[in-house]
Amino acid sequence: MKCQVCRGPAVIDVRRHNANFCQEHFLRLCRDQTARTITQFSMLSEGDRVLVAVSGGKDSLAIWDILIELGYEADGFYLGLGIGAYSDTSAGYARRFADERGLTLHSEDLLRDHGFDVPHGSRAARRAPCSACGLSKRHRFDEAARRGGYDAVVTGHNLDDEAAVLMGNVLHWQTDYLGRQLPVLKAQHGFPRKVKPLVRLTERDTAAYCLLRGIDYLVDECPMAVGNKHLSYKAALNDIESDSPGAKHAFYFRFLDQAAHRFVDHPPEGEAVTDMAPVSPCINCGAPCSNEVCAFCSLTMRATAAVPIEMGATRRRKVSR
Ligand code: FES
Ligand code: ZN
Ligand code: ZN
Repeated sequence: MKCQVCRGPAVIDVRRHNANFCQEHFLRLCRDQTARTITQFSMLSEGDRVLVAVSGGKDSLAIWDILIELGYEADGFYLGLGIGAYSDTSAGYARRFADERGLTLHSEDLLRDHGFDVPHGSRAARRAPCSACGLSKRHRFDEAARRGGYDAVVTGHNLDDEAAVLMGNVLHWQTDYLGRQLPVLKAQHGFPRKVKPLVRLTERDTAAYCLLRGIDYLVDECPMAVGNKHLSYKAALNDIESDSPGAKHAFYFRFLDQAAHRFVDHPPEGEAVTDMAPVSPCINCGAPCSNEVCAFCSLTMRATAAVPIEMGATRRRKVSR
């Protein structure tokens, strides 16, 4: 197996490109594909300060590393979700990555700073854990970007993630969500720009990238995601991809080229704010929202109302009953 660029020994095959690569040229491919995505969708400009949403997993650490390699000023933000050992371990990976490279990692903890964790808070608020988790992440990342004066929030969503979300949205014809499936959402109404520069790379690519770059990451999946439909869509797409390399890429990128524009004016109710929606600051936290109280504050109220919480260790014990 030879590298298609230099004909030296290859370390990885990339079937959708019908090519093999040595270490150097695979790493270059990952950076080039990311840079190409950033340019194609006008995600970032020179001099932008970006905030990377870091989970401690392969995708967020890979994109943070790639952005630094590409010369961007990129800081990280980690949100502790209180999902037992999973959260403790993931925080350690994020912290080590930042410390070893002298990078800035901001962090916040849902339980310490907002009085609830994802497992208990989602139950109290009668939301699926992943829904409470996603809502909390979006709100806290946006808020951290606003507070820190960052130009954009970067997330590590890859091609597998986006193709699986697209499959779910198409299977149920969720036209409102299809309008949110772009890899860049422009800044508007006080919300920061949000970008997904890894959409040309697969999970396998980011795992290989981390391995070859010596980046240690949390391999375990979130325990709350077990049974999640998203994972079954990923598995189905992997089956299709193995018979038909490039199918995932075509599914997602042709959607972007040929269909996404038909849905952009229909964002999900209560979560996105269109040019038409009235925007006012949340009366509790000041974040832009279309109701009096933003979705995160109302989640926090419901999650903490059921469980009276005090500070510190007492808080953890009471929440864990
Ligand atoms: Fe959010 Fe698992 S990472 S619920
Ligand atoms: Zn090579
Ligand atoms: Zn609020």
